[in-house]
Amino acid sequence: MVGEMNGALNSHDVAMAFSVPDLPYPHDALEPHISAETMRFHHDKHHQAYVDKANAALDGTQWADTRAEDLLAALDELPEDLRDRVRDNVGGHVNHTMFWASMKPDGGGQPGGKLLGAIKGAFGNFKVFKDTVRAASMSVFGSGWAWLVDDGTRVFIVTTTNQDSPLSDGLTPLVGIDVWEHAYYLQYENRRAEYVDAWLSVVDWEAVEARYEAVPRQDVSDILSRGVSIAGVETVFGEIDIDAARTQAAELKALQGWGPMAKVGSIARAWNELAQTLDKRGAATVADLDASTIISSATDLWVIPPGRSMV
Ligand SMILES: [Fe+2]
Repeated sequence: MVGEMNGALNSHDVAMAFSVPDLPYPHDALEPHISAETMRFHHDKHHQAYVDKANAALDGTQWADTRAEDLLAALDELPEDLRDRVRDNVGGHVNHTMFWASMKPDGGGQPGGKLLGAIKGAFGNFKVFKDTVRAASMSVFGSGWAWLVDDGTRVFIVTTTNQDSPLSDGLTPLVGIDVWEHAYYLQYENRRAEYVDAWLSVVDWEAVEARYEAVPRQDVSDILSRGVSIAGVETVFGEIDIDAARTQAAELKALQGWGPMAKVGSIARAWNELAQTLDKRGAATVADLDASTIISSATDLWVIPPGRSMV
């Protein structure tokens, strides 16, 4: 081992190596949905194997100190002989680390906050979302994962094979369900659908919400602070709620057909659509909506002046 003084040369110091994180709950905490025996094999044995192989692959290389997530996001930059081992084993480490932190006893139900709004925006309602998770999980041929991901503008579902990570496709994974047989076979044998339902009963949606909140997004503060006059009262776009949007739609509808305001009909409809969107997504105000909806709505409403390029 190189002396500690040579820190810069010490890139493969054992202290920097990956390790399996402790479970944030006892092995039997997720029973009856996920058995203690499954957790012991899955967490203690399988995850450890990924960590051991990842460390062996990177030991002594210039990437030994690189963040696991950064390695997965830049697989193409790795030499070919290392790339597959990183994809499989660093991928296995990162995927499982998120997996343990995405479950909890008494989990399940549905998320709240902006994440629920984003899910409703993408899937219509939470039931359709869950059905899509089930279908995606069943569609993985062989071993892999189904993920809820975020591309910075919206959420959607993707699947990956083996231990491939959505990070390698430039996507932020919010939560993933492991559909390798090692995740369920001891308890559910070949009944993957039963396991998927069981997993939905232990999801820690608060953890997923926190990941959603942390995804970098386009700054829409300029749009949210733009002045809008609702029934003669000045407010800002971000503070508009359902009632204000409906009021504005009604006021503009009354003006329809008035010569100088040729576009008033379409803008009235856009205010109605905004009211419906706020309602459907359970958003108190425009500021609670996701960035892409805020931008498209502001464009339709001419809150962003037509023809003006975005900030
Ligand atoms: Fe697994």
